[in-house]
Amino acid sequence: MKYLIVNSKNYPEVAGKRIFELASVIEAVKRRTSRKRKKLEFILAVPAFCVQAICSRFQGLPIFCQHLDASPLGSSTGFLVPELARSYGAHGSIVNHSEHQLSFEKLSVTIARLKETDLKSLVCARTSYEVRKFALLSPDFIAVEPPELIGTGRSVSKAKPQLIVQSVKALEKVESNLASRLPVLLCGAGIVSGQDAKRAVELGTQGILVSSGVVRSQNWKQSIEALADGIINAESKI
Ligand code: G3P
Repeated sequence: MKYLIVNSKNYPEVAGKRIFELASVIEAVKRRTSRKRKKLEFILAVPAFCVQAICSRFQGLPIFCQHLDASPLGSSTGFLVPELARSYGAHGSIVNHSEHQLSFEKLSVTIARLKETDLKSLVCARTSYEVRKFALLSPDFIAVEPPELIGTGRSVSKAKPQLIVQSVKALEKVESNLASRLPVLLCGAGIVSGQDAKRAVELGTQGILVSSGVVRSQNWKQSIEALADGIINAESKI
């Protein structure tokens, strides 16, 4: 299975009802690719405010939170509690995004908590060293993203292909130490075109995590379709 994960972040382009428009464009592209029997899963990470509304309206589209805390149910005002996210329909969460970093201890506790709550975890790593270290915590996904390329339109797959190759190798090294399944490796930062996405998969990932290349583009449908086609058309090693 390949993945196209869109993180809306907090861009003004998705304020108010526009987040519904983005979800509905992604759902339409998802329908189109599944009619062609392509194994591509789409996920949308949304601001916490709209998790329930989006989940109840778009039941065929897995929705992630952009961050969750390991705080307990009950007296934890303002924290984003996994059990409640799940009760509102979320399927998982990004954790340790380079815009919302956690200590290793917190990251470890948060991934464990997401597992207990039956939520998927997508951990962001900045280096191949972090990919290896975080893989031992057995998240469902790891997205390697060099922070300096985020939001630049210069894609990780073209500007830093070695980072992806090294991350693939780092995961291969942990394989023997892991009792459970290896996390799915994705990459992100600066991805804007179908070519960027295709290259990311050809370098050994199972897909991409993308934000501004979709959310800030002039035409959401065109950009999502181009990225989806790039992933589908890649000569995958997996
Ligand atoms: O979470 C996705 C991310 O940080 C990449 O952002 O805007 O470079 O696609 P962008």
